[in-house]
Amino acid sequence: MKILGTGSALPKRVVTNDDLAEFLDTNDEWISTRTGIRERRVLTDETLQSLAETAAKNAIENAGLTPQDIDFVLVSTVLAETLSPALAMDIQPAVGLKCMGVDLNGGCTGFIAALAVAEGLLAMGRARKILVLSAEALSRFSDWTDRGTCVLFGDAAGAAVVGEGDGVKDVCFRGEPRREVLFANTDPGNSPFAVDPRPACFLKMQGQEVYKFAVSHSFRDIREMLERAGLQPEDVDFYVLHQANMRILEAVRTRLKVGEDRFPHNIERTGNTSSATVPVLLDELNRAGKLKPGCRVILNAFGAGLCTGTALIEF
Ligand code: COA
Repeated sequence: MKILGTGSALPKRVVTNDDLAEFLDTNDEWISTRTGIRERRVLTDETLQSLAETAAKNAIENAGLTPQDIDFVLVSTVLAETLSPALAMDIQPAVGLKCMGVDLNGGCTGFIAALAVAEGLLAMGRARKILVLSAEALSRFSDWTDRGTCVLFGDAAGAAVVGEGDGVKDVCFRGEPRREVLFANTDPGNSPFAVDPRPACFLKMQGQEVYKFAVSHSFRDIREMLERAGLQPEDVDFYVLHQANMRILEAVRTRLKVGEDRFPHNIERTGNTSSATVPVLLDELNRAGKLKPGCRVILNAFGAGLCTGTALIEF
């Protein structure tokens, strides 16, 4: 499999830390020093679906393809706007697609998980050109009264078109079931037969536990992938890591002992957009002309589950 093109889309509304301080007991200094986040984009009158459609169109165009060339769509989302059909089907009329589409939820690791599923479909000859897309609207299930979580998140969509090739050198996933550290329940519905319905619930998080998990597991998984490939950390041009916290990125970077130029980031502008962070950042690098032929990139993300995903890609 290789990546043929990328795309992304962000909501138009910029929400700064000062905007949050107008209704929360927080301030720009706390948020920016603890997280690196200065602003995030939040859905207002747009829909998550419209963001996904824009990212999809951009990626197909960037790949030099037409929508008719795409024969499978995989969407990574923690929560779409509708339960059914899948977002991967709902975006198809506006994008001009006409094929099978499936949503999957791998938390913030979802984009890398979807890439791996796409790789399997291509290897089995079940599809030839696949649109892999992450669309996330964390603003819709963040608790906007909880300063410990809502300040971290934003909304975004990022996409890649993949086809046959040998750009993916290694992929690795790990899970460590620890639900209590990071979770969000769905609305319990109104079944008269439910005996003990779960309470409606926003995203809940034990921040320090997630932090410790992220730093230790991201570093371990990247180091092991480098060892398997016989590479030194500086042999990788870019480490495209899940944008959850600038301190986490810095902790992993300093453990790997590589320069800041190899650790691109956009968290200061986007906040944590769950599984969309990796493809959005990848698209920014691509559009800046930085993903040249032969360029080596490591993707790495961690998230609810808890789980991690890492991939080594050569362009
Ligand atoms: N503004 C001001 N104060 C805040 C605040 C905010 N937005 N959020 C929390 N605080 C306060 C807390 O109430 C606490 O106050 P207290 O000492 O009076 O009780 C204090 O700041 C420290 O809180 P704590 O939660 O211990 O801070 P922290 O240093 O662990 O930083 C996170 C919190 C969330 C920034 C950090 O733990 C983190 O980034 N973890 C990883 C989260 C993550 O990546 N999640 C996504 C996974 S995909």
